[in-house]
Amino acid sequence: MAAPVVNKEYLNEIEKARRDLRALIYSKNCAPLMLRLAWHDAATYDAKPKNGVAGGPNGSIRNEEELNRSANFGLNIAVNLCEEVKAKHPKITYADLYQLAGVVAVEITGGPSINFVPGRKDSTQSPADGRVPDAKLGASHLREVFYRMGLSDKDIVVLSGGHTLGRAHQNRSGFDGPWTKEPEKFDNSYFVELLKGESEGLLKLPTDKVLVEDPVFRRYVELYAKCSMLTRRKKIGITSQAVVVDNFTIFTSGN
Ligand code: HEM
Repeated sequence: MAAPVVNKEYLNEIEKARRDLRALIYSKNCAPLMLRLAWHDAATYDAKPKNGVAGGPNGSIRNEEELNRSANFGLNIAVNLCEEVKAKHPKITYADLYQLAGVVAVEITGGPSINFVPGRKDSTQSPADGRVPDAKLGASHLREVFYRMGLSDKDIVVLSGGHTLGRAHQNRSGFDGPWTKEPEKFDNSYFVELLKGESEGLLKLPTDKVLVEDPVFRRYVELYAKCSMLTRRKKIGITSQAVVVDNFTIFTSGN
């Protein structure tokens, strides 16, 4: 599919869609799910694909086969909710729409303002299953998946901070519970809780636990836990690429 022409008209539609997404996410209280949608559409990215399928943020998660994969359980709700906005702004690609939903989700929960760069093209081709990280595995698996996307150890840690929002659901992933005491607020408490260790009522996935067990990851967890506002990038010296966590998920274009 062709990339959208990002002209004045397209940018106007993006702004209108942004407002509609804001209203939708507020009314449905679904910011965490929207962030997870943006992440999972993007997280299939392969920077050096051997079979030609780069994946990445290209809207392919809406394909039934990809959406029904166990890693994506629950995301059909977010995809369906986005249809309301897509119907009002049909020119906007799904690829842009899902990433914009992630941007809005971060912003309205108190996270940083994210410079959204539109222009992603849609794809109906889903990469083979297995590209999204598996929560039951360890540090080498995380590195394998994130390095495939061209990301670093620092990115692994800061991106995992997305778990400051939302919770796991028994009937979706088999895990249960939130990571933080205020799962509707975007802050650095995910990192603070990681350093505290086990806490009653709070979840730590195996892939969260390795962030404090692995010495390289742990250094970043300690750094981010110290800063009361993850969003104050300059203060903690994180590059914008690493912070917007989403810079990858949101700004990297797929095939
Ligand atoms: C590091 C590898 C990661 C693994 C293994 C992982 C795994 C998981 C799992 C198992 C769930 C629970 C799903 C459910 O039961 O509803 C979840 C939820 C979530 N994930 Fe991740 N995730 C990872 C990285 C990320 C990243 C990078 C982001 C965003 C930047 C993110 C954002 C979220 C959000 C917001 C939720 C909560 C969704 C909700 O409340 O419905 N995750 N993740």
